[in-house]
Amino acid sequence: MKFFLDTANLDEIREAASWGILDGVTTNPSLVQKEGKTFQRLIEEICKLVDGPVSAEVVSTDTIGMLQEGQELAKIHPNVTVKIPFIKAGLPAIKGLSEKGIPVNVTLIFSPIQALMAAKSGATFVSPFVGRLDDIADEGMKVVAQILEIFDNYDFGTEVLVASCRNPLHIVEAARLGASIATMPFKVMEQLIHHPLTDVGLRKFLDDWAKIPKELRELTVVKS
Ligand code: E4P
Repeated sequence: MKFFLDTANLDEIREAASWGILDGVTTNPSLVQKEGKTFQRLIEEICKLVDGPVSAEVVSTDTIGMLQEGQELAKIHPNVTVKIPFIKAGLPAIKGLSEKGIPVNVTLIFSPIQALMAAKSGATFVSPFVGRLDDIADEGMKVVAQILEIFDNYDFGTEVLVASCRNPLHIVEAARLGASIATMPFKVMEQLIHHPLTDVGLRKFLDDWAKIPKELRELTVVKS
């Protein structure tokens, strides 16, 4: 399972990349707006920090505009994946970009049928938004399960990128269902690491170790 970071913040990306488990980054206009930097520069910098797909979203809502913007974004770096919202005008844009070999992440997916249509259009990734579905008392993970079931019946090659993850349970559930990717905020990725019993256990090991006389603790290096 791949872990993507859902942020446009370079410090967060740099730190998560240093942990060695970062496979990609997703951005969106709201995340970019928080950074106060040029969009192009931000995407260039992100691509330097992570060796994997970096989603950059178009803001046009007509097909021609999305196609043009998508092609411009793809020129920034070979790892750029163009994010297209799932709207009617987006369908030909997904197809057009895919046919040019440009990877497309179809965003704002809230139903299995939207995911199926995006896959039929040639999407590389579909992004169901689990947190936003949970927010309206729907079950985000049920939609993910249905998408995976549908994709299993066919051979689209489209990967399910579970988005709008808000807590570690979302990641556990996405992994149990076999989703290819989960994208999450930095805070959630950090939460995945911590377990109170690990911290308590380590403290006890180190305290007990300190009680051993120094001469009994030292390692003798065997020279070969
Ligand atoms: C990812 O591609 C989405 O932009 C993101 O996960 C949305 O998350 P949110 O619902 O927490 O804003």
